[in-house]
Amino acid sequence: MKFDTILVAINNQLAQITINRPHKLNALNKVTIEELSEAFEALEDNEDVKVIVLTGSGDKAFVAGADISEFAHFSVDEGGTLARNGQEILFNIVENLSKPVIAAINGFALGGGLELAMACHFRIASDNAKMGLPEVSLGVIPGYGGTQRLPQLVGKGKAMEMIMTATMIPADEALKCGLVNYVTTQEELLPLAEKIAGKIMRNSSVAISAAIRAVNANFEDGVNGYDVEIEEFGDCFGTEDFMEGTTAFLEKRKPNFPGA
Ligand code: COA
Repeated sequence: MKFDTILVAINNQLAQITINRPHKLNALNKVTIEELSEAFEALEDNEDVKVIVLTGSGDKAFVAGADISEFAHFSVDEGGTLARNGQEILFNIVENLSKPVIAAINGFALGGGLELAMACHFRIASDNAKMGLPEVSLGVIPGYGGTQRLPQLVGKGKAMEMIMTATMIPADEALKCGLVNYVTTQEELLPLAEKIAGKIMRNSSVAISAAIRAVNANFEDGVNGYDVEIEEFGDCFGTEDFMEGTTAFLEKRKPNFPGA
């Protein structure tokens, strides 16, 4: 896969997407959003890929937000379209991908950058990372799902405070409030992502996809997550992975999941 603003590398069933505009602190412009969308769709269909890690290039930023220079002159209609289009082609796709997506936050994750990290299934951060939704300081609000996903992760009160004050929180505070799962040094960030990905890969990819759908169902309007869980649970019994997983347990050996 060849792109202008992102890099994609696949090694041992782990795909790494690196947002690669370091001179603009990896800000998300239109092209980057389209390329990310294309890359995620391609990796979803790539049978050689089990887990995806998303990070930013350089040592300063994951993503410092949507590219302000692109939307500063937008009209009401264009603003609405920007948010809707971004949510549809990227943020919602990432959240509902059938393969685990880990955000490795290696620096600033602001505005659309934090929103992208929050669309991932979970997040780890380096100790220099700073996270926030500074949109109200620009006279706008988060438009890529930030007003919905931040309260889901940190609770309504903390999310309200972060959004209203437009302040950035450091990595250790993000860890305390559940925005990220681990904080490590910048050097250890990608190795840690690989280690977690390795643990995930030992398990049934079919069951993991079902678990993603069931967990996400909790946050979908008008959907009963318990019902989705029951249905997904039942469906697992018809999979080869279930046969292998349970047989391997009873035979006291490690499973070798076919992923079907
Ligand atoms: N959109 C467009 N360009 C951005 C950007 C964004 N969200 N964030 C950073 N950049 C660009 C800067 O304009 C600058 O470009 P230039 O060198 O061509 O002037 C370059 O990236 C480096 O940023 P700079 O501001 O010089 O770095 P800094 O270390 O002084 O400050 C930040 C870092 C993150 C505090 C600062 O860049 C910032 O506040 N960015 C905007 C954050 C934001 O409001 N995001 C939400 C957008 S909705």
